Amino acid sequence: MPNSMIRIERLTKRYGPTEALRSLSFEVPRGQVIGFLGPNGAGKSTTMKILAGYLQPTSGKALVGDVDVAAEPVRARKLIGYLPENNPLYEEMMVVDFLRFIAEVRQVEKSVRAARIRNAVERCGLGGVIGKDISQLSKGYRQRVGLAQAILHEPDLLILDEPTSGLDPNQIVEIRALIKDLGKEKTVILSTHVLSEVQSTCSRVLIINDGQLVADDSPEQLTSAGEGALLVVLASRSGAPLELNHLHSVLSAVPGVTAVEPAEGEGHGTAGFRLRFGVEDPRRALFEAVVKHDLLLLEVRRTQASLEDTFRKLTAGEVRKAA
Ligand SMILES: Nc1ncnc2c1ncn2[C@@H]1O[C@H](COP(=O)(O)OP(=O)(O)OP(=O)(O)O)[C@@H](O)[C@H]1O
Ligand SMILES: [Mg+2]
Repeated sequence: MPNSMIRIERLTKRYGPTEALRSLSFEVPRGQVIGFLGPNGAGKSTTMKILAGYLQPTSGKALVGDVDVAAEPVRARKLIGYLPENNPLYEEMMVVDFLRFIAEVRQVEKSVRAARIRNAVERCGLGGVIGKDISQLSKGYRQRVGLAQAILHEPDLLILDEPTSGLDPNQIVEIRALIKDLGKEKTVILSTHVLSEVQSTCSRVLIINDGQLVADDSPEQLTSAGEGALLVVLASRSGAPLELNHLHSVLSAVPGVTAVEPAEGEGHGTAGFRLRFGVEDPRRALFEAVVKHDLLLLEVRRTQASLEDTFRKLTAGEVRKAA
């Protein structure tokens, strides 16, 4: 059994003049839950459709296990459960009939069909609604049906394209818990715009921008990587009013500091700043500068970049091509 569950090799996809994927490569070992991030139009759904065998790449390869998806789509689909963006369902069907229909389409063996459906219904908490028409269900329950159809044939890999989009906060928590649970036994790749989701659910994060990979790391690394920042609150020792421009130039001159921005201060007669720095921790030099300029250091605190910061840094400044 090959060790990697997903192998994306120099994948390129062109839609007419639009280059949606540009030589995208990454690998996912078995058993991980991967967050797939990127701004609108980055190429997440395109990658997932190609991986699920629903779209042909222009060039490059997508492999699931040792199966080349484009070359052997039928074999590949047995290994894959796919929840497409917007979760298209047959509205007029009863939940149970829909699942039966999917089991048939996926060629789940007749002798195990009923058991597989029961299992998917139980895992996804659909017991109370199997007799309802899909059109009557709330969005959260529709997503559960989408997940149930994805796991019906017991695939090794789940490809979930924005599984929590459009759900209310309670439903998000429920679906997230369900995905986490499924992730115990399956490899999962999920795309999302909800960054907190990645922190709570995923062991690894891939960020793409404009069809290219810009980050591949753990959520912890992505929130601590890169430059650090200090939150600093100053007051004047003499009680004289603070001169912000002067403070700004004092702080900018501290060795190690790469940028100074205004931040929340303490209150009257005080001023707050955020100091960015690179490899060199500027705290010692900061204390010296504070003493030298007869200032009072009320607070100095190391702050961590949020995943939002990292995401924005890696994907900002991108002029989107017309969709
Ligand atoms: N069927 C299509 N025909 C033409 N262009 C397309 C088609 N599907 C996607 N694109 C373009 O390909 C690029 C990537 O789109 P894709 O849907 O993969 O992005 P995404 O990362 O899933 O975005 P979102 O976060 O909005 O879902 C975009 O520029 C998009 O406009
Ligand atoms: Mg998409």
